[in-house]
Amino acid sequence: MAESALPVAMISGAGRGIGAAIAAELTAHGWAVSLGCRRPGSVPADARQLVCHYDALESQSDQRWIDSTLAAYGRIDAVIHNAGIMLPRSVLEATDEEFDQQFAVNVKAPMRLTRKLWPWLKASGRGRVITLASLSAKRVKSAQSGLYAMSKFSALAFTHALRHAGEADGIRACAICPGFVATDMGMSLSQIPAEKMTQPEDIALLVRTVLMLPNRASIAEIPVNWAVEDNY
Ligand SMILES: NC(=O)c1ccc[n+]([C@@H]2O[C@H](COP(=O)([O-])OP(=O)(O)OC[C@H]3O[C@@H](n4cnc5c(N)ncnc54)[C@H](OP(=O)(O)O)[C@@H]3O)[C@@H](O)[C@H]2O)c1
Repeated sequence: MAESALPVAMISGAGRGIGAAIAAELTAHGWAVSLGCRRPGSVPADARQLVCHYDALESQSDQRWIDSTLAAYGRIDAVIHNAGIMLPRSVLEATDEEFDQQFAVNVKAPMRLTRKLWPWLKASGRGRVITLASLSAKRVKSAQSGLYAMSKFSALAFTHALRHAGEADGIRACAICPGFVATDMGMSLSQIPAEKMTQPEDIALLVRTVLMLPNRASIAEIPVNWAVEDNY
């Protein structure tokens, strides 16, 4: 297939929540998108979007997703690491298995996927890696968020490491760090009315803005609050 005239973004966990909002925003504004989802068949059909199988816990599914994206579009300019889980465990409660699962999805899978995508991001000349981190990458809000916060601090460090690794090749990395967002995850963790929380569409607009900015305007982190906290 001929190379897409549109820039191409891969979005993990794009079947619902923040990932689905990012996919809709980019599709509406001149991007070709490839959605990585555990259950592609459950994603509402949009003929403009490529929907592929991707499970962060299966080490080979990322290569199949990359191959399908390249077969359809011939180029990859950006990846949005959105797929994530939140195991509400303190660092004293968390078992080894829970630690491994939390880090496998939130840290190890994005690192592995980025490594495999690097040649394509380099070829773009303006490759972008955006990671949905969290305000839990910036502060630890409670004992119960301890394990999750450890994984998100790590995801933030991953972003900063990529900024160094990609500088000379025009690859820019950014971590989006929201507080509560009105998705299944956000609403399962808080009694705050959904309409008061940051909306998935707000995050999607930030992602598109970061993607549009030129290489000379690189944003490392964006903290996003639904309400003022002591430090954020
Ligand atoms: N909502 C918030 O308050 C909030 C705040 C800060 C940061 N975040 C971060 O933002 C990102 C998106 O969160 P969300 O609020 O949209 O969460 P969500 O509504 O719970 O959706 C999570 C997404 O991740 C996918 N996912 C989970 N495990 C996966 C795996 N093993 N392989 C592939 N995909 C997997 C899910 O796919 P399935 O549909 O197959 O389950 C789903 O698409 C996450 O990284 C989260 O940590 C969320």
